[in-house]
Amino acid sequence: MTEPKKLFIKTYGCQMNVYDSERMAEAMGGKGYVQTDTPDDADMILLNTCHIREKAAEKVYSELGRYKGLKADKPDLKIGVAGCVAQAEGQEIMRRQPMVDLVVGPQSYHRLPELEAKAREGKKALDTDFPEDDKFETLKNRPKAKRGPTAFLTVQEGCDKFCAFCVVPYTRGAEVSRPAGRIMDEARELVERGVRELTLLGQNVNAYHGHDKGLGGLIRDLAKIDGLERIRFTTSHPNDMDDDLIAAHGDCEKLMPYLHLPVQAGSDKILKRMNRSHTAEEYLKLIERLRAVRPDLHLSGDFIVGFPEETEEDFQDTLNLIKAVEYGSAFSFKYSERPGTPAAERPQVSEEEKDDRLQRLQALLKEQQKALQDAMVGREVSVLFEKTGRMTGQMVGKSEYLHAVHVEAEGIAVGELAKVRIASSGPNSLKGVLLP
Ligand code: 5AD
Ligand code: SF4
Repeated sequence: MTEPKKLFIKTYGCQMNVYDSERMAEAMGGKGYVQTDTPDDADMILLNTCHIREKAAEKVYSELGRYKGLKADKPDLKIGVAGCVAQAEGQEIMRRQPMVDLVVGPQSYHRLPELEAKAREGKKALDTDFPEDDKFETLKNRPKAKRGPTAFLTVQEGCDKFCAFCVVPYTRGAEVSRPAGRIMDEARELVERGVRELTLLGQNVNAYHGHDKGLGGLIRDLAKIDGLERIRFTTSHPNDMDDDLIAAHGDCEKLMPYLHLPVQAGSDKILKRMNRSHTAEEYLKLIERLRAVRPDLHLSGDFIVGFPEETEEDFQDTLNLIKAVEYGSAFSFKYSERPGTPAAERPQVSEEEKDDRLQRLQALLKEQQKALQDAMVGREVSVLFEKTGRMTGQMVGKSEYLHAVHVEAEGIAVGELAKVRIASSGPNSLKGVLLP
């Protein structure tokens, strides 16, 4: 028997890239590749890249530089760049870094096996099309290996919102939803393979329209699958939160009480310039409606500080919005100019100002996050166990609010759901005791 070829994938960026990397590994599995966790013994290296913020392309070029020695020792080694930097830079990558054999955009990675074959013939292979064929269908025949208890499932891709700072509508293209029937099939298959919790992914997941009742309808159908215990979804836009999806947070038990709902800024002037098409007030009203149906809902958000022409007063509006919401977790970034996006043309805020605002914003978010985590002490939560802890007899899982929870428990298995009483709150996780 011949040795299987080895594939090393390095994933940058969002959860959708994590999902895409899994699918790329599966596509290459069909060609006899197995995954390896080091580039040193790989026959093929793929960088699955992200273009959302600054220096993304530079990071990719410097990472590629590190593989020069490997390629010199092993001329058969094939190197590919996938994902959003591949989409944005295209041919330029091979021009700047001639050792790259193939470049594949996020919409064409189902063509990876053909591209690899072309690269093996010594040719350069590039595909950054937005093809008509359905990449998910082409990748359907995945190996049926056992899976861990949690999985991502892409239901929607692309974005039509064109926020003034964002490259996603250009790199991932227009909004496309996968048909509900196909998602149901994939979900059932994942559950058969051991998955208990699904996170539905989309750049604008709540704009999903592959089901006649939208994302809420899809979630309610998924909830009927026996063995599937938990459903989450990310990332949402406030304007696509329809009545049924809001209601599902109150009446669909399997939908977890944690919602990532980015607002980006709290000043109406900045929101308008960001082309967000909603005001701070409208966002707060929406949160109120969600909390009316699910009072314990934990909220998470994304924030950008130092958007062009943001004043200290505008920034204070963002802090005030954060105070009004009380987030359970959040991601925050300094605005970074993305070539080709409208905001890149506007007068920029100084780097020092951005640094200072980011620090102040993160201090507030950290305080809120800690307060909400500490408030879990004494409460009963449900935990889905995902792995064994570093100490013997310790298990680690996630609560419904996405807090990491450690318990000392013999005999509990990965994939089990159990009730836990929270006993203490540490820097990044909770500790609890298993309830009978
Ligand atoms: N600069 C800073 N942050 C950005 N994001 C998107 N584009 C930019 C940019 N140009 C952030 C937004 C988005 C998250 C995924 O990344 O907050 O919600
Ligand atoms: Fe980017 Fe999200 Fe705005 Fe779409 S909605 S343009 S993905 S920030």
